[in-house]
Amino acid sequence: MILTRRLLACVAAALLLTNSVAARPAYFDPSLPIDKRVDDLMSRMTVDEKIGQLNQLFYITQFMKPEIIEPDLREGKIGSLLFVTDPATINRFQKVAVEQSRLKIPLLFGFDVIHGFRTIFPVPLALASSWDVDLVERVQTIAAREASATGIRWTFAPMLDVARDPRWGRIVEGAGEDPFLGARIAAAQVRGFQGQDPASPGRLLACMKHFAGYGAAVGGRDYDAAYISDAELYNVYLPPFKAAVDAGVGSAMSAYMDLNDVPATGNAFLLRDVLRNQWGFKGFVVSDADAVGNLVTHGFAEDKADAAARALTAGVDMEMSFPGNAVSGTYSSSLAKHVSEGRITKAQLDEAVRRVLEAKFKAGLFENPYADESRAASMHNNPEHRKMARIAAQRSAVLLRNEGNLLPLDPKFSSIAVIGPLADSKRDIRGSWSLADDMKTAVTVVEGIRAKVRSGVNVEYAPGIDIARSYPSIFELFFGPRPAAWNETQRREEFEKAVTLARSSDVVVMVLGQHEEMSGEGASQSTIELPGRQRELLEAVSALGKPTVLVLINGRPLDISWAVNRVPAILEAWHPGAEGGNAIADLLWGDATPVGKLPITWPRSSGQIPLYYARNLTQEPENKPGFKSRYWDIATSPLYPFGYGLSYTSFSYSNLRVSKATAKLGESVEVTVDVENTGRRAGEEVAQLYIHQRSGSASRPVRELKGFERVVLAPGEKKTVRFTLGKTELTYWSSAARGWVQEPATFDVWAGGDSTATLQRKFQITR
Ligand code: NOJ
Repeated sequence: MILTRRLLACVAAALLLTNSVAARPAYFDPSLPIDKRVDDLMSRMTVDEKIGQLNQLFYITQFMKPEIIEPDLREGKIGSLLFVTDPATINRFQKVAVEQSRLKIPLLFGFDVIHGFRTIFPVPLALASSWDVDLVERVQTIAAREASATGIRWTFAPMLDVARDPRWGRIVEGAGEDPFLGARIAAAQVRGFQGQDPASPGRLLACMKHFAGYGAAVGGRDYDAAYISDAELYNVYLPPFKAAVDAGVGSAMSAYMDLNDVPATGNAFLLRDVLRNQWGFKGFVVSDADAVGNLVTHGFAEDKADAAARALTAGVDMEMSFPGNAVSGTYSSSLAKHVSEGRITKAQLDEAVRRVLEAKFKAGLFENPYADESRAASMHNNPEHRKMARIAAQRSAVLLRNEGNLLPLDPKFSSIAVIGPLADSKRDIRGSWSLADDMKTAVTVVEGIRAKVRSGVNVEYAPGIDIARSYPSIFELFFGPRPAAWNETQRREEFEKAVTLARSSDVVVMVLGQHEEMSGEGASQSTIELPGRQRELLEAVSALGKPTVLVLINGRPLDISWAVNRVPAILEAWHPGAEGGNAIADLLWGDATPVGKLPITWPRSSGQIPLYYARNLTQEPENKPGFKSRYWDIATSPLYPFGYGLSYTSFSYSNLRVSKATAKLGESVEVTVDVENTGRRAGEEVAQLYIHQRSGSASRPVRELKGFERVVLAPGEKKTVRFTLGKTELTYWSSAARGWVQEPATFDVWAGGDSTATLQRKFQITR
């Protein structure tokens, strides 16, 4: 009897199990390979549901109501949302998608997690100044942990646009001017975001952007066309993207601008030939916001329907469209018609849908669609993350000048004047794309200094002047407008107050630069002058003859030519993030030693732009006696070269050796150099290796970075640093050969602390 009852219970349980498995379609079975799951899911989808997966919409909590998009989510018309940053709303929308839509396909939530999410780290240009790929990886690991806890499973980062024009506002979002450094930083960011597997806890899908050439916008004007030769494209602009693909990046974003007259978002050469055919990229491509619709404004597509067909055909899988409802995008409003009329084939549609679904499966969304709200809460003000933000800010700063070793500051100074419009600004210490943090927790320079100094030291602050953009930034939507400009009386009084304060203090810390929204998207400027009356204030304060340190808070090199001969110490802090004020104080008082190096050439003035170190030689040798400059009114040389940065100690380089004087094509050459700490403090140096190919089928740049290593050295300590120059480093894309070549030639090698290194050897590559 007992046996029979047990038997019956077993049969019932087995039946229940079979039923529940039968109720869940095969694509929910995690034991199946992803392609089988995608096949199964796609076999059940209508054309409209497929198109829904290609539709990404903005949802900006401040301006929208959930009821607007929920019916579309229920009908499967939206595949992804961006800009939702609170876990409760994410879960609310996800519940509609996975419980109330017919096929229960989870949404993919994306956001611009550029340099932190709840914890704001230094801006990308600053992180690149660390030349510390491990640091960059750790920072993006934390950013991924914070964002993924919130339910965001996709970041629109890293931005990999090589930029050689500091007028372009988005220079702040990238790694600067160099393809080699850019590639190393790109791969580190992909590893940081995605780890081994973007589906693993704490990771998310990365999106390399903006593919490609956006940094070369003519005149540095945001969104303007870029004209880039194939050689420049392959040798300069594409290497960071290639490195990201090699590191397994899961997605790419097509850029806004025209590349050689074909908008990047309708550019099959970029999106198919290069990305898929040459590089074998397997992820999916999303357009930049409204970039598909903008194919019409470019004068490229006839209308929105034409734009949709041309973007999809060129290789844009998902369309990012502006807020509205499901049909605000061109894909949603016109792809169905294209498919029914045959302009887009079913196979073309399926190809795009497959890639998007594959990413959703790979991201683990079908198994794990929801945010864990309590874990998300623990990401606010996480002390470990804050500690890392402080270290990152210390390591991202670049010491540009330190006459008479004014820095680190003498602890005996007992009255400190902190002056400048950015010195006590929580908003500006963070930098562009700080949209999901708690701004109140950011530490300003004034706060950092007050927390640092011994008791009894008097720290006083005066802004001195106010600065403003001439029209509001798009990001003011989030933070509201800046306070109204000062009137004439205030201007006079505040200026005077600052000078008086400086006069009565032992030491002055001037904090100048730019508001966070003066760089970034939509923040190009015609000159790199310090905005407002900052120089005037600096001149007035400098005239007092007090020991003065200039701390720069900014997202691009600025014209500080006036200051470099008059202000004894200059520290470039960039927008150093939420712990910026503490990190700056650590550096000023020597609790941290500067280790950063410029990832970009620093021009003397706007007129030199564009200026970058890896330029080609001309018919006139630069070391010719009498050679001064290619301008008669200004030096050709920059104010500070690429790779430059001082420490509180000094380093010397010696004993540069190449392993063989001659090597065959394809063989490697080892290069070693000794680096010694010749000062009295411990320090860390970035040893850099540059090469020049003396002849070939095409002219090669006067120098190219091909290696760098960080070396930590105690006073008096010497270490040998090793580099390998192999086929990869010695190959380039030749416009004469129309392809990648490694050529027999003589190569010069330099090693040193910046791109003007003088220690030189040579070797030969033969057939
Ligand atoms: C436009 C920007 O160009 C892009 O970088 C960003 O990811 C998207 N907007 C989404 O915010």
